[in-house]
Amino acid sequence: MGLGAAAALPSVASAAWPGNWRTLQAGGAGSPTLLDSNENAYGPSPEAYAALEASGAVANRYPKHEYENLVEAIAAKHGVKPEQVTLGCGSSENLRMAAEAFLGPGKTLIYATPTFEFIAHRAADTGAQLAAVPLTKDYAHDLDAMLARASSGGGLVYICNPNNPTATLTPRKDLEAFLQKLPASYYVLMDEAYHHFVTDAPAYTSFLDRPVDNPRLIVTRTFSKIYGLAGARIGYSVATLETTRGMNAEKMQFAVNVLGARAALAAWNDAEAVPKGAARNAADRREFYKQAKSRSLEVIESQTNFLMVRTGRPAQEVIEHFRANNVMIGRPFPPMLDYVRISLGTPTDMQEFWRVWDLLPAAKPS
Ligand SMILES: Cc1ncc(COP(=O)(O)O)c(C=O)c1O
Repeated sequence: MGLGAAAALPSVASAAWPGNWRTLQAGGAGSPTLLDSNENAYGPSPEAYAALEASGAVANRYPKHEYENLVEAIAAKHGVKPEQVTLGCGSSENLRMAAEAFLGPGKTLIYATPTFEFIAHRAADTGAQLAAVPLTKDYAHDLDAMLARASSGGGLVYICNPNNPTATLTPRKDLEAFLQKLPASYYVLMDEAYHHFVTDAPAYTSFLDRPVDNPRLIVTRTFSKIYGLAGARIGYSVATLETTRGMNAEKMQFAVNVLGARAALAAWNDAEAVPKGAARNAADRREFYKQAKSRSLEVIESQTNFLMVRTGRPAQEVIEHFRANNVMIGRPFPPMLDYVRISLGTPTDMQEFWRVWDLLPAAKPS
């Protein structure tokens, strides 16, 4: 795909949220059941919530110390220098920074399809070429095919691990081998937004579990998923000092707000937040499999807080059926147009999901 590719990319905002049907947030009477954006339906922890409430009192002040305080806490836990960490207004902002720092005319973004497309939009904005590479039949990144797309101009490879929307993993050893072979003119961004939901997967290891000493590597994480702070907008990246300098050059001043940074710090310092959230998610996932199995549904094995279910009919039909019943599920993900992506919700949300699923008219024989 070349420059014209920008027009061919689905617009993330309009495709996911046509009209304003999502403006009614969950909670009020008649509000929809939201299973469309891989959020944490249980909300922030009590500690994070308390920090959000308390920070209201300083919302009149610019975030002068909050940025550094959170960076130091993140760096200490990952065993890196604070100068290696960049905070973003959600990890989306870190993806944007990487696109702006390391792409531009003559450079190429290599990414999987389907994946989280946000960076492809930002890459197109820089004038970079887009090279979309289908996943393997096991829904891993096809690293050999990605390597074959590496052009002489250099650029950035985006790896989403676990991958959104398929919820699947690309093994660490394959990624290591790929990094060895990739031309030196390419950076690699490992998006680990769903890292904490991975269970029992020996082939997977985060790129933050060992020192980040490869100047071509950028690892991103977010407070939007396991920590339940999607609306507070905090994400971060870790890279070498030199690469972080490149990221920071594209940072917007004060993009990280007082409330979000303080809530994220409280969540980060809560030793229970991750193990509790991961265990609850694993239990919710098991229940989903059980319900799917009782209906003989095919589900791709998930390492995240969402699952891809085969529908046996066009995904759009199923999405519309759910929307008509006030349940929002993920948008279509070409080329997997007979799958729907379901974000896990609370047990009440999921009861509603299965109730509405059971109202689906029988699929027409193909
Ligand atoms: C793979 C992936 N990366 C990054 C993000 C961006 O999340 P945020 O900007 O809230 O950190 C998302 C959001 O759903 C995602 O699925």
